[in-house]
Amino acid sequence: MSQSIKNIGVLTSGGDAPGMNAAIRSVVRTCAYLNIKCTAIYRGYQGMIEGDFEIFNARSVNNIINKGGTILQSARSEEFRTPEGRKKAHDQLIKAGVDALVVIGGNGSFTGALKFNEEFNFPVMGIPGTIDNDILGTSYTLGFDTAINTVVDAIDKIRDTASSHNRLFFVEVMGRDVGLIALNAGVGAGAEEILIPEQNLGLERLVESLKRSKNSGKSSSIVIVAEGDKTGNNVFELKDYVEKNLPIYDVRVSVLGHMQRGGNPTCFDRVLASRMGVKAVESLLEGRSNEMIGIRDTSLVLVPIAEAISGLTQVDQELIRVSDIMTT
Ligand code: F6P
Repeated sequence: MSQSIKNIGVLTSGGDAPGMNAAIRSVVRTCAYLNIKCTAIYRGYQGMIEGDFEIFNARSVNNIINKGGTILQSARSEEFRTPEGRKKAHDQLIKAGVDALVVIGGNGSFTGALKFNEEFNFPVMGIPGTIDNDILGTSYTLGFDTAINTVVDAIDKIRDTASSHNRLFFVEVMGRDVGLIALNAGVGAGAEEILIPEQNLGLERLVESLKRSKNSGKSSSIVIVAEGDKTGNNVFELKDYVEKNLPIYDVRVSVLGHMQRGGNPTCFDRVLASRMGVKAVESLLEGRSNEMIGIRDTSLVLVPIAEAISGLTQVDQELIRVSDIMTT
Protein backbone atom coordinates (compact mmCIF):
# COMPACT_ATOMS: atom_id res chain seq x y z
CA MET A 1 0.00 0.00 0.00
CA SER A 2 1.31 3.45 -0.95
CA GLN A 3 2.12 5.29 2.28
CA SER A 4 2.09 8.64 0.44
CA ILE A 5 -1.60 8.70 -0.45
CA LYS A 6 -3.69 10.08 2.40
CA ASN A 7 -6.42 12.00 0.59
CA ILE A 8 -8.14 10.91 -2.62
CA GLY A 9 -10.17 13.34 -4.72
CA VAL A 10 -13.18 12.17 -6.73
CA LEU A 11 -14.98 13.98 -9.55
CA THR A 12 -17.47 13.35 -12.31
CA SER A 13 -16.91 14.81 -15.75
CA GLY A 14 -18.52 14.84 -19.20
CA GLY A 15 -22.06 13.65 -19.92
CA ASP A 16 -23.66 12.30 -16.75
CA ALA A 17 -24.72 8.66 -16.60
CA PRO A 18 -26.84 6.54 -14.22
CA GLY A 19 -24.47 4.76 -11.87
CA MET A 20 -22.12 7.70 -11.36
CA ASN A 21 -23.59 8.28 -7.89
CA ALA A 22 -23.07 4.63 -7.04
CA ALA A 23 -19.44 4.97 -8.10
CA ILE A 24 -18.98 8.14 -6.02
CA ARG A 25 -20.51 6.31 -3.05
CA SER A 26 -18.13 3.38 -3.52
CA VAL A 27 -15.01 5.57 -3.75
CA VAL A 28 -16.03 7.50 -0.62
CA ARG A 29 -16.95 4.40 1.38
CA THR A 30 -13.76 2.56 0.35
CA CYS A 31 -11.67 5.54 1.50
CA ALA A 32 -13.56 5.56 4.80
CA TYR A 33 -13.06 1.80 5.16
CA LEU A 34 -9.30 2.22 4.60
CA ASN A 35 -9.06 5.34 6.79
CA ILE A 36 -8.11 7.52 3.83
CA LYS A 37 -9.54 11.03 3.49
CA CYS A 38 -11.83 11.64 0.52
CA THR A 39 -12.28 15.03 -1.09
CA ALA A 40 -15.36 15.50 -3.24
CA ILE A 41 -14.74 17.83 -6.19
CA TYR A 42 -17.84 19.54 -7.57
CA ARG A 43 -18.44 20.37 -11.26
CA GLY A 44 -15.64 18.33 -12.72
CA TYR A 45 -12.38 19.93 -13.81
CA GLN A 46 -13.84 23.46 -13.59
CA GLY A 47 -14.60 22.89 -9.93
CA MET A 48 -11.07 21.57 -9.45
CA ILE A 49 -9.69 24.83 -10.89
CA GLU A 50 -11.93 26.84 -8.56
CA GLY A 51 -11.25 24.72 -5.47
CA ASP A 52 -14.92 23.72 -5.16
CA PHE A 53 -14.18 20.90 -2.71
CA GLU A 54 -15.83 19.22 0.24
CA ILE A 55 -14.49 16.52 2.57
CA PHE A 56 -16.83 13.52 2.33
CA ASN A 57 -17.27 10.73 4.86
CA ALA A 58 -19.22 7.48 4.69
CA ARG A 59 -22.43 9.25 5.64
CA SER A 60 -22.02 11.91 2.94
CA VAL A 61 -23.15 9.40 0.33
CA ASN A 62 -26.25 8.01 2.03
CA ASN A 63 -29.25 7.26 -0.21
CA ILE A 64 -27.62 8.01 -3.54
CA ILE A 65 -26.90 4.53 -4.94
CA ASN A 66 -30.36 4.47 -6.50
CA LYS A 67 -30.26 7.96 -8.01
CA GLY A 68 -29.38 8.91 -11.57
CA GLY A 69 -27.22 11.90 -12.36
CA THR A 70 -24.26 12.91 -10.16
CA ILE A 71 -24.42 14.71 -6.80
CA LEU A 72 -21.01 16.20 -7.65
CA GLN A 73 -22.45 17.59 -10.87
CA SER A 74 -20.43 17.72 -14.06
CA ALA A 75 -19.27 20.56 -16.27
CA ARG A 76 -17.28 21.06 -19.42
CA SER A 77 -14.15 23.14 -18.76
CA GLU A 78 -12.44 25.03 -21.56
CA GLU A 79 -9.96 26.42 -18.98
CA PHE A 80 -8.77 22.90 -18.06
CA ARG A 81 -7.74 22.48 -21.68
CA THR A 82 -5.04 25.13 -21.05
CA PRO A 83 -1.76 24.59 -19.18
CA GLU A 84 -2.60 27.58 -16.98
CA GLY A 85 -5.95 26.04 -16.04
CA ARG A 86 -4.39 22.69 -15.21
CA LYS A 87 -1.74 24.44 -13.13
CA LYS A 88 -4.46 26.25 -11.15
CA ALA A 89 -6.22 22.91 -10.60
CA HIS A 90 -3.00 21.28 -9.41
CA ASP A 91 -2.30 24.13 -7.00
CA GLN A 92 -5.83 23.76 -5.59
CA LEU A 93 -5.35 20.03 -5.02
CA ILE A 94 -2.00 20.56 -3.30
CA LYS A 95 -3.49 23.31 -1.14
CA ALA A 96 -6.30 20.95 -0.11
CA GLY A 97 -3.87 18.11 0.61
CA VAL A 98 -5.31 15.91 -2.13
CA ASP A 99 -2.69 13.51 -3.49
CA ALA A 100 -4.56 11.27 -5.94
CA LEU A 101 -7.63 11.51 -8.16
CA VAL A 102 -10.49 9.27 -9.30
CA VAL A 103 -12.13 10.56 -12.49
CA ILE A 104 -15.55 9.17 -13.35
CA GLY A 105 -16.36 10.00 -16.97
CA GLY A 106 -15.79 9.25 -20.64
CA ASN A 107 -13.06 9.62 -23.25
CA GLY A 108 -12.75 13.38 -22.95
CA SER A 109 -12.51 13.22 -19.16
CA PHE A 110 -9.81 10.54 -19.34
CA THR A 111 -7.84 12.56 -21.90
CA GLY A 112 -7.75 15.44 -19.43
CA ALA A 113 -6.74 13.14 -16.58
CA LEU A 114 -3.85 11.70 -18.59
CA LYS A 115 -2.60 15.17 -19.55
CA PHE A 116 -2.82 16.20 -15.91
CA ASN A 117 -0.75 13.21 -14.84
CA GLU A 118 1.85 13.87 -17.54
CA GLU A 119 2.29 17.48 -16.43
CA PHE A 120 2.28 16.97 -12.66
CA ASN A 121 2.97 13.25 -12.15
CA PHE A 122 -0.27 13.26 -10.17
CA PRO A 123 -1.79 9.76 -9.64
CA VAL A 124 -5.08 9.34 -11.52
CA MET A 125 -7.48 6.42 -11.95
CA GLY A 126 -10.48 6.35 -14.32
CA ILE A 127 -13.93 4.83 -13.89
CA PRO A 128 -15.80 4.64 -17.24
CA GLY A 129 -19.10 6.49 -17.01
CA THR A 130 -21.03 7.20 -20.20
CA ILE A 131 -24.29 5.81 -21.57
CA ASP A 132 -22.63 5.38 -24.99
CA ASN A 133 -20.51 2.41 -23.87
CA ASP A 134 -17.96 3.52 -26.46
CA ILE A 135 -14.78 3.37 -24.34
CA LEU A 136 -12.20 0.84 -25.49
CA GLY A 137 -11.00 -1.85 -23.08
CA THR A 138 -14.20 -2.44 -21.16
CA SER A 139 -17.32 -4.42 -22.05
CA TYR A 140 -19.48 -2.01 -20.09
CA THR A 141 -19.38 1.64 -19.06
CA LEU A 142 -21.57 2.89 -16.24
CA GLY A 143 -24.99 3.99 -17.47
CA PHE A 144 -25.19 1.87 -20.62
CA ASP A 145 -27.33 -0.90 -19.10
CA THR A 146 -29.70 1.64 -17.57
CA ALA A 147 -29.93 3.60 -20.84
CA ILE A 148 -30.79 0.58 -23.02
CA ASN A 149 -33.45 -0.46 -20.53
CA THR A 150 -34.87 3.08 -20.61
CA VAL A 151 -34.96 2.93 -24.43
CA VAL A 152 -36.57 -0.52 -24.52
CA ASP A 153 -39.25 0.66 -22.10
CA ALA A 154 -39.90 3.77 -24.21
CA ILE A 155 -40.13 1.74 -27.43
CA ASP A 156 -42.51 -0.75 -25.82
CA LYS A 157 -44.79 2.22 -25.05
CA ILE A 158 -44.43 3.66 -28.56
CA ARG A 159 -45.25 0.27 -30.04
CA ASP A 160 -48.61 0.29 -28.23
CA THR A 161 -49.74 3.39 -30.12
CA ALA A 162 -47.98 2.39 -33.36
CA SER A 163 -49.92 -0.86 -33.48
CA SER A 164 -53.16 0.92 -32.53
CA HIS A 165 -52.85 3.18 -35.55
CA ASN A 166 -50.89 1.00 -37.99
CA ARG A 167 -48.09 3.53 -37.89
CA LEU A 168 -44.37 3.49 -38.60
CA PHE A 169 -42.26 5.23 -35.93
CA PHE A 170 -38.72 6.47 -36.31
CA VAL A 171 -37.24 6.53 -32.78
CA GLU A 172 -33.97 8.46 -32.42
CA VAL A 173 -31.66 7.43 -29.58
CA MET A 174 -28.37 8.77 -28.21
CA GLY A 175 -24.91 7.51 -29.07
CA ARG A 176 -22.89 10.30 -30.65
CA ASP A 177 -20.37 8.16 -32.53
CA VAL A 178 -21.24 4.54 -31.81
CA GLY A 179 -24.55 2.73 -32.33
CA LEU A 180 -24.41 0.41 -29.31
CA ILE A 181 -27.51 1.87 -27.64
CA ALA A 182 -29.50 1.62 -30.88
CA LEU A 183 -28.30 -1.91 -31.67
CA ASN A 184 -28.87 -3.43 -28.23
CA ALA A 185 -32.14 -1.64 -27.51
CA GLY A 186 -33.29 -2.29 -31.07
CA VAL A 187 -32.84 -6.04 -30.69
CA GLY A 188 -34.33 -5.95 -27.21
CA ALA A 189 -37.39 -4.00 -28.32
CA GLY A 190 -37.87 -5.97 -31.54
CA ALA A 191 -37.35 -3.01 -33.86
CA GLU A 192 -37.99 -3.79 -37.51
CA GLU A 193 -34.98 -1.73 -38.59
CA ILE A 194 -31.89 -0.54 -36.70
CA LEU A 195 -29.87 2.32 -38.25
CA ILE A 196 -26.40 2.87 -36.79
CA PRO A 197 -23.41 5.03 -37.82
CA GLU A 198 -21.28 1.90 -38.32
CA GLN A 199 -23.47 0.88 -41.25
CA ASN A 200 -25.10 2.83 -44.05
CA LEU A 201 -27.34 0.55 -46.04
CA GLY A 202 -29.01 3.41 -47.89
CA LEU A 203 -32.49 4.88 -48.16
CA GLU A 204 -33.66 2.64 -50.99
CA ARG A 205 -32.80 -0.50 -49.03
CA LEU A 206 -34.66 0.90 -46.03
CA VAL A 207 -37.82 1.46 -48.10
CA GLU A 208 -37.55 -2.00 -49.67
CA SER A 209 -37.16 -3.62 -46.26
CA LEU A 210 -40.15 -1.75 -44.83
CA LYS A 211 -42.19 -2.69 -47.90
CA ARG A 212 -41.34 -6.36 -47.30
CA SER A 213 -42.33 -6.00 -43.64
CA LYS A 214 -45.68 -4.53 -44.64
CA ASN A 215 -46.28 -7.20 -47.30
CA SER A 216 -45.43 -9.91 -44.76
CA GLY A 217 -48.30 -8.71 -42.63
CA LYS A 218 -46.62 -6.29 -40.20
CA SER A 219 -49.16 -3.54 -39.65
CA SER A 220 -46.84 -1.27 -37.66
CA SER A 221 -43.10 -0.82 -37.53
CA ILE A 222 -40.43 0.67 -35.31
CA VAL A 223 -37.19 1.95 -36.83
CA ILE A 224 -34.60 2.82 -34.19
CA VAL A 225 -32.07 5.40 -35.37
CA ALA A 226 -28.80 6.23 -33.62
CA GLU A 227 -28.27 10.00 -33.58
CA GLY A 228 -24.99 9.48 -35.44
CA ASP A 229 -26.64 7.48 -38.25
CA LYS A 230 -25.78 8.71 -41.74
CA THR A 231 -28.53 7.01 -43.78
CA GLY A 232 -30.26 10.37 -44.03
CA ASN A 233 -29.32 13.80 -42.75
CA ASN A 234 -31.58 13.35 -39.75
CA VAL A 235 -34.51 11.33 -38.50
CA PHE A 236 -37.06 13.86 -39.82
CA GLU A 237 -35.62 13.60 -43.33
CA LEU A 238 -35.95 9.81 -43.06
CA LYS A 239 -39.62 10.28 -42.21
CA ASP A 240 -40.19 12.56 -45.20
CA TYR A 241 -38.40 10.16 -47.54
CA VAL A 242 -40.37 7.11 -46.39
CA GLU A 243 -43.68 9.01 -46.48
CA LYS A 244 -42.95 10.01 -50.08
CA ASN A 245 -41.75 6.59 -51.24
CA LEU A 246 -43.94 4.34 -49.12
CA PRO A 247 -47.32 6.11 -48.80
CA ILE A 248 -48.88 2.96 -47.30
CA TYR A 249 -47.38 4.01 -43.96
CA ASP A 250 -48.55 6.77 -41.63
CA VAL A 251 -45.18 7.88 -40.22
CA ARG A 252 -44.25 9.57 -36.95
CA VAL A 253 -40.98 10.50 -35.19
CA SER A 254 -40.02 10.24 -31.53
CA VAL A 255 -36.69 11.66 -30.33
CA LEU A 256 -35.91 10.19 -26.88
CA GLY A 257 -33.15 12.70 -26.11
CA HIS A 258 -31.78 13.30 -22.63
CA MET A 259 -34.26 11.06 -20.82
CA GLN A 260 -31.77 8.32 -21.77
CA ARG A 261 -29.21 9.95 -19.48
CA GLY A 262 -31.47 9.86 -16.42
CA GLY A 263 -33.38 7.42 -14.32
CA ASN A 264 -32.60 5.17 -11.38
CA PRO A 265 -29.61 3.00 -12.29
CA THR A 266 -30.25 -0.70 -12.84
CA CYS A 267 -28.88 -3.18 -10.35
CA PHE A 268 -26.25 -4.13 -12.92
CA ASP A 269 -24.95 -0.54 -13.06
CA ARG A 270 -25.07 -0.17 -9.27
CA VAL A 271 -23.09 -3.36 -8.68
CA LEU A 272 -20.59 -2.53 -11.45
CA ALA A 273 -20.11 0.97 -10.01
CA SER A 274 -19.60 -0.39 -6.51
CA ARG A 275 -16.97 -2.87 -7.73
CA MET A 276 -15.16 -0.26 -9.83
CA GLY A 277 -15.02 2.26 -6.98
CA VAL A 278 -13.29 -0.19 -4.65
CA LYS A 279 -10.84 -1.23 -7.39
CA ALA A 280 -10.00 2.39 -8.23
CA VAL A 281 -9.12 3.31 -4.64
CA GLU A 282 -7.20 0.11 -3.96
CA SER A 283 -5.24 0.47 -7.21
CA LEU A 284 -4.18 4.03 -6.30
CA LEU A 285 -3.07 2.82 -2.86
CA GLU A 286 -1.02 0.11 -4.55
CA GLY A 287 0.85 2.90 -6.29
CA ARG A 288 -0.83 2.44 -9.69
CA SER A 289 -1.88 5.32 -11.97
CA ASN A 290 -3.03 6.24 -15.49
CA GLU A 291 -5.39 3.29 -15.69
CA MET A 292 -9.12 2.82 -16.20
CA ILE A 293 -11.08 0.18 -14.32
CA GLY A 294 -12.73 -1.97 -16.97
CA ILE A 295 -14.75 -5.15 -16.99
CA ARG A 296 -14.32 -8.10 -19.37
CA ASP A 297 -16.61 -11.12 -19.02
CA THR A 298 -17.25 -10.74 -15.29
CA SER A 299 -13.76 -9.77 -14.15
CA LEU A 300 -12.45 -6.28 -13.48
CA VAL A 301 -9.36 -5.33 -15.47
CA LEU A 302 -6.94 -2.41 -15.38
CA VAL A 303 -6.62 -0.76 -18.79
CA PRO A 304 -3.98 1.92 -19.54
CA ILE A 305 -5.87 5.17 -20.07
CA ALA A 306 -3.78 5.81 -23.19
CA GLU A 307 -5.25 2.57 -24.65
CA ALA A 308 -8.80 3.37 -23.48
CA ILE A 309 -8.83 6.73 -25.28
CA SER A 310 -7.06 5.48 -28.43
CA GLY A 311 -10.28 4.68 -30.27
CA LEU A 312 -13.95 3.76 -29.89
CA THR A 313 -15.63 0.44 -29.17
CA GLN A 314 -16.94 -1.26 -32.29
CA VAL A 315 -20.40 -2.79 -32.46
CA ASP A 316 -20.57 -6.55 -32.21
CA GLN A 317 -20.96 -8.07 -35.70
CA GLU A 318 -22.61 -11.13 -34.21
CA LEU A 319 -25.34 -8.94 -32.73
CA ILE A 320 -25.81 -7.21 -36.08
CA ARG A 321 -26.33 -10.69 -37.63
CA VAL A 322 -28.84 -11.54 -34.90
CA SER A 323 -30.72 -8.29 -35.56
CA ASP A 324 -30.84 -9.06 -39.32
CA ILE A 325 -32.30 -12.51 -38.61
CA MET A 326 -34.83 -11.16 -36.10
CA THR A 327 -36.27 -8.77 -38.70
CA THR A 328 -37.28 -11.67 -40.97
O1 F6P B 1 -21.78 11.03 -24.47
C1 F6P B 1 -23.03 10.82 -23.90
C2 F6P B 1 -24.06 11.63 -24.64
O2 F6P B 1 -25.29 11.43 -24.03
C3 F6P B 1 -24.18 11.28 -26.13
O3 F6P B 1 -24.90 10.07 -26.32
C4 F6P B 1 -24.89 12.50 -26.63
O4 F6P B 1 -24.72 12.68 -28.03
C5 F6P B 1 -24.17 13.61 -25.86
O5 F6P B 1 -23.76 13.04 -24.63
C6 F6P B 1 -25.06 14.80 -25.60
O6 F6P B 1 -24.23 15.79 -25.00
P1 F6P B 1 -24.90 17.00 -24.21
O7 F6P B 1 -25.46 16.47 -22.92
O8 F6P B 1 -23.75 17.95 -24.00
O9 F6P B 1 -26.00 17.57 -25.10
